[in-house]
Amino acid sequence: MTPAIDKMSEPKIRSIMTPFLAAVALIFSAISTNAAAQSYDGAELYALNCSNCHGIYGEGDGILTPDLSVVLLDLRYLNDRNGGTFPKTFVINIIDGREVRAAHGPTGMPVWGAEFSRSEGFSDDAQERVSAKIMAISDFLERIQITD
Ligand code: HEC
Repeated sequence: MTPAIDKMSEPKIRSIMTPFLAAVALIFSAISTNAAAQSYDGAELYALNCSNCHGIYGEGDGILTPDLSVVLLDLRYLNDRNGGTFPKTFVINIIDGREVRAAHGPTGMPVWGAEFSRSEGFSDDAQERVSAKIMAISDFLERIQITD
């Protein structure tokens, strides 16, 4: 049996394939943009942005602690301090800081929602990446909780 494709002229094949490939490319680019937003490494983001104050392991012993006016609480006991469950909304709001800081004033903790926006931008897509970064860091903190 002769494959149907043999009977088609080359321009005809191209006219079918071009929109098809364009559609495939579009789908892949949509998936990869979305995946990029989901695929931040929370541990790496923590090490880069948080460990200077909160310590490499979250113990509150980072190199900048002598400059802070408060003693940092151990981030591995967030569950413990919250009756055994991870206080996700609290953590996300503290890291983002844009609402919490407005209500309570500056505390020495950078406003990461604003910091990340400075590098990512303010479009809807950029704000999704900002949220994804904050979420990745929160997920990392959830993973390092000590429960005994
Ligand atoms: C320049 C120092 C500094 C850096 C960097 C910093 N923080 Fe903080 N953080 C603080 C201070 C000071 C507090 C205590 C006051 C407050 O709650 O804002 C705090 C409080 C917190 C709390 C609340 C702890 C509790 O139980 O009340 C969390 C959670 C937290 N930080 C997470 C982070 C994360 C995640 C990062 C990185 C994205 C980060 N911090 C970066 C200084 C810092």
